[in-house]
Amino acid sequence: MNQTEAAGAARLVESPEEIRRVVQAARRTGLRVGFVPTMGALHAGHRSLIEQARHDCDVVVASIFVNPTQFAPHEDLSKYPRPLEADLRLCSGAGADLVFHPSVPAMYPAGMSTVVRVEGLTRGLEGASRPTHFQGVTTVVLKLFSVVPADVAYFGQKDFQQQAVLRKMVADLCLPIEIVVCPTVREPDGLALSSRNVYLSPTERQQALELSAALRRTMTQLEQGVRDIPALQRELRDRLVAAPGVVLDYATLADPQTLEELSSWQPSVVALVAARVGTTRLIDNMVFGRWQ
Ligand code: PAJ
Repeated sequence: MNQTEAAGAARLVESPEEIRRVVQAARRTGLRVGFVPTMGALHAGHRSLIEQARHDCDVVVASIFVNPTQFAPHEDLSKYPRPLEADLRLCSGAGADLVFHPSVPAMYPAGMSTVVRVEGLTRGLEGASRPTHFQGVTTVVLKLFSVVPADVAYFGQKDFQQQAVLRKMVADLCLPIEIVVCPTVREPDGLALSSRNVYLSPTERQQALELSAALRRTMTQLEQGVRDIPALQRELRDRLVAAPGVVLDYATLADPQTLEELSSWQPSVVALVAARVGTTRLIDNMVFGRWQ
């Protein structure tokens, strides 16, 4: 018996009709279904979401779908890693019962002409440099919620703007699903886990540590009682602009709900950064105070 079998192998389902049937049948018998949408290339961050779902729910579904519509033409869609066998092992080991792995035509049938767009929250930050990204995310996630009609879906704080946008979509459209956001999983040296970290050379990986280090310093200053938000933001930015190998896109202190940049202190603050290290675009964030 291999490890996967020992943990109970997750069942791979490719058909949207079949996964919906299984989920609906489970819910009809009163079971609570948890859902973890992913694009694969799974790591301990994804694993933590599946484990949380396993802890909270009776049935756990993970999905693996590299969603083409959230990549811009110049982005890394074709080279995005797709290690399906390893991903299935990770899902099984973390306690998923089912892995939904649809084809592109199953999710985007020829002629599909419907999109979902959340306005406002999607304009700045990631939306500024990736104008079509969130429309791709909201469209595919709403469709996934329709095909996998779970009780609760799990997302990572790592993609802070994404969770804010998805929570807004669920609230605005009264979708019958609960959203749970789980903390960012990091390497021992602070680097936030990301499927894109595999693109970093050893030198770039070292340079990328400056993102979490700069955020950590901002959090420490807030914890120590520093209240001058513009000065903290300037310092965060200056530190990242000066960091070797880091090309800063944005570094901002914002309201965790609206994501609007702050001009003065308030009890909850999210610090958000995005930068290129080599050719790899990385994002990270940390929150001070209560936010969910
Ligand atoms: P993906 O990048 O595969 O991430 C899937 C989920 O894992 C997201 O909710 C993300 O926030 C979470 N995640 C990633 N890194 C994490 C980390 N270090 N710690 C904790 N959670 C982490 O996000 C997407 O896919 C897609 O946009 C998707 C929502 C699946 C829609 O296509």
